[in-house]
Amino acid sequence: MKKFAVEKNMLLLALGALAVFSIGGIGSTLIPPLVDKSLVTSTSDKPVHQYTEQEQRGIEIYKAEGCVYCHTQQIRDMVSDQKRYGWRLVDAAVSESWEYTQDKYHFLGTKRTGPDLARVGGKYSNQWHWAHFKDPRNMGEKFRSSRGPYESSSVMPSFKYLTDEEIKDLTAYLQTLGRNKNWRVDSNDRPLNDYED
Ligand code: HEC
Repeated sequence: MKKFAVEKNMLLLALGALAVFSIGGIGSTLIPPLVDKSLVTSTSDKPVHQYTEQEQRGIEIYKAEGCVYCHTQQIRDMVSDQKRYGWRLVDAAVSESWEYTQDKYHFLGTKRTGPDLARVGGKYSNQWHWAHFKDPRNMGEKFRSSRGPYESSSVMPSFKYLTDEEIKDLTAYLQTLGRNKNWRVDSNDRPLNDYED
């Protein structure tokens, strides 16, 4: 049976395989920003937030504690995402690529055991986060249960083994999430929090 050159030459075969393999990579990484400039241009007139040292420590803790296994950080272009992670009557803005440009690690995530955190910044006070990390079951919604009148059903583990400093660092990081995009602002264009400082 006749053999093609590529079947006889290892180098040609390897190069051919590499070329075929890279079509997917190039098609999903290099080409989209060339075709659609909106993917890489900011829709905000403000520079993307630079993380402070404290927030950077918080990022390391977020990574080390595996928060990403239960929490995503992406509001997808779906009504359900926008409604679910919105705030009062304001729908959560869809995540855009420029919002992540300062991120060294990407916590987009793939699994939502807990809620998405892409826009959680400003949603709760630091005190709320403090209490929630110490004992998640004591916070949030409570449901009627056969074991008692009401029971919280959070499956989030307690992080009370973290030091006070670590909880503060982690909270500082969480409070930045989603705030690059001004989707919750007061009449003076200042970011609005969901709590009184
Ligand atoms: C085993 C899965 C799991 C892990 C790991 C986990 N969480 Fe959660 N998280 C949840 C669930 C479930 C909820 C919803 C119930 C609640 O509020 O406790 C939640 C809620 C939250 C909320 C409130 C979000 C909202 O919009 O109400 C924050 C903030 C949060 N988690 C942060 C973290 C951080 C930071 C870490 C890592 C230190 C972490 N979680 C680790 C499951 C998890």
